[in-house]
Amino acid sequence: MNTPLRTVYLNGEYLPENQAKVSIFDRGFVFADGVYEVTSVIDGKLVDFPGHCTRLGRSLNELKMKRPCDDATLLAMHRELVARNGITEGLVYMQVTRGAEDREFTWSDTLEPTLVAFTQKKNLIDSPLAARGSKVISVPDLRWQRRDIKTIQLLYPSLAKMEAKAAGKDDAWMVEDGFVTEGTSNNAFIITGDGVIVTRQLSRSLLHGITRAAVLRHAQEEGLRVEERPFTIEEAKQAAEAFVTAATSFVTPVVEIDGATLGDGTPGPYAKKLRAIYIEESRRSAI
Ligand code: PDD
Repeated sequence: MNTPLRTVYLNGEYLPENQAKVSIFDRGFVFADGVYEVTSVIDGKLVDFPGHCTRLGRSLNELKMKRPCDDATLLAMHRELVARNGITEGLVYMQVTRGAEDREFTWSDTLEPTLVAFTQKKNLIDSPLAARGSKVISVPDLRWQRRDIKTIQLLYPSLAKMEAKAAGKDDAWMVEDGFVTEGTSNNAFIITGDGVIVTRQLSRSLLHGITRAAVLRHAQEEGLRVEERPFTIEEAKQAAEAFVTAATSFVTPVVEIDGATLGDGTPGPYAKKLRAIYIEESRRSAI
């Protein structure tokens, strides 16, 4: 069966996916000069959209990149893509690149950004990985030093995920100076034996996850203890539980780290509860 062509967005136009064309001179293509956001869709609605818009604005500012349009236009565009593609559950991927001009390391002030977006259907709530729990390996964090900016430079995370896959595991946690920074495409958390939720504090070393912020808020509302500090792989291997957060994986339990099984090797009670709360709250607040 042929998959029907999606409708995608390119610089103000809605087009069949095979007709959306970007220049080979686009700096996104040539220099990875671009930023992105991934917003999840549940019940046909956008989860935490204002948070994604705010972070996009921050990424653009940090890279001195022009904002292609205002937040209201971005919201209307996301809703239009969700509707045209009949997405009830899945995601919207949006990318802004600096634009197209002849290849030079420096860029012109007059350059107009390229804005593209597309949808992907995905079962986010009934996730087999969340049900069985993720197995992770550790790898050195070899990314650049501005991981707080959500750039499209995702080659190293892709290599790390391939390494995990080759080892028969699900994902990788990245380690710098002995401490975990984050997962390849998610923020990393552990839960200590006495029920403290630990995740690394925000800095330039990791992405300021929108899901991370929501989950920390929920944990505090539930009266759980939270510590924002770095932790090592050794501490993580001894933890009672672990989990990761990301827009498209919500809260996903981690059950194995570098071959060490956490608890009984199945998703733990805290992670399962935080996942359930996150889904419930997201359903309630999605727009
Ligand atoms: N990735 N850290 C990294 C390196 C990420 O790439 C992501 C998200 C996160 C979680 O951020 P948020 O909760 O805002 O989604 C943390 C997206 C989902 C992706 O690349 O597909």
